[in-house]
Amino acid sequence: MTVLIKNIGQLATPLGSSAQRGKAQGEICLLKNAWLLMEDGVIRKIGEGEAPCIPDAKIIDGEGRLVTPGLVDAHTHLVFGGWRAHELMLKLQGVPYLEILAAGGGILSTVRATRGASQEELQDKAAAALREMLQYGTTTCECKSGYGLDLDTELKQLRAVKALNEAQPVELVSTFLGAHAVPSEFAGDRAGYIRLLTDRVIPEVAKEGLAEFCDVFCETGVFDAAEAEEILKAGLSHGLGAKIHADEINPISGSQLAGELRAVSAEHLIAAPDGGIEKMAEGGTVAVLLPATSFYLDKPFARARAMIDAGVPVAAATDFNPGSCPSLNMQMVMSLACYKYRMKPEEVLTAVTLNAAAAIGRAHRIGTLEAGKQADILIWDAPSLEHIFYRFGSDQVKTVIKKGIEVK
Ligand code: NIG
Ligand code: FE
Repeated sequence: MTVLIKNIGQLATPLGSSAQRGKAQGEICLLKNAWLLMEDGVIRKIGEGEAPCIPDAKIIDGEGRLVTPGLVDAHTHLVFGGWRAHELMLKLQGVPYLEILAAGGGILSTVRATRGASQEELQDKAAAALREMLQYGTTTCECKSGYGLDLDTELKQLRAVKALNEAQPVELVSTFLGAHAVPSEFAGDRAGYIRLLTDRVIPEVAKEGLAEFCDVFCETGVFDAAEAEEILKAGLSHGLGAKIHADEINPISGSQLAGELRAVSAEHLIAAPDGGIEKMAEGGTVAVLLPATSFYLDKPFARARAMIDAGVPVAAATDFNPGSCPSLNMQMVMSLACYKYRMKPEEVLTAVTLNAAAAIGRAHRIGTLEAGKQADILIWDAPSLEHIFYRFGSDQVKTVIKKGIEVK
């Protein structure tokens, strides 16, 4: 099917098929009075001025609005049982996040709920979240496991993602996060749990083709950098790309490790030290920053400007999960990245499209509006890029096109 969007007020897109870093992160393409032609879900041509006349093409009138690539949410914990609204009250009383976890709550309480849910129940719940994400403009979403912490439940979560990927429009990319916490049955035997992951679960996940990446929560009281390295290397040896939850609360060398391993991404990074940022720049690791988590946990905001200055490609994502970020709204993430990281709208756009796509190994196919790329496109209820940052808080996505098909 051929579709032509004409009368686009402003078309804003980063360019290229790999992450943009440094100054280049803010150097996007801005066209005025533009048009975009797509065919069978692929972008064919983009131009400025008078739109071509294509007989039989379906016409979408852009009505002078802003058009951008679809948003890529490169860090979510999409599949989980239950919620944890009660933790909000603990948080307001000043109980730290890691203390709730150490007392058997937090991640471990979601593990209990996820173990107790059927695959179908998990799928239905995640499907509702995906419907909402799509409304806010997310067209591709990374999903981490990590609320099973045993072979069967980790596989159940990953199978739910696989089934959902086939059942609805948001494209899903799976990450194995068995190293999200040490489950209570291994409380006295950390080494035993790590052995279970490296010798049993990772090989099984890879054999079934259920994940593309392996991630570790490298944090005080969870997994240290040496343990994270062992787990990520096991993943790499089975073809799973390395990602790492690094320096979220305490700087314990996660960002250094990410750079040294040339990990695809390091995520959170609120407390990342200069040395870690340098290593990430050297290793070509994408920093996936999660400003809505800083906001919700009332933590500092990651040093995005220092990362951009050091030549680290920066992406931004929701971290959607029941504990540290119950929001799945990428527009909220974009606003926070602009106001709190002091990133320019152009830099944020790259962070939530091309660089986010690079963080999940998809920059060759999505993340920009260019001939040959997949037609994942948003039409905004705004005349320009700066307008969507200015009018925070409203849902400003008017139309969502996934693989050439209008889905909102
Ligand atoms: O990315 N930091 C570790 N994992 C999640 C939180 C998971 C939870 O609290 O359930 C995160 O913030
Ligand atoms: Fe996370």
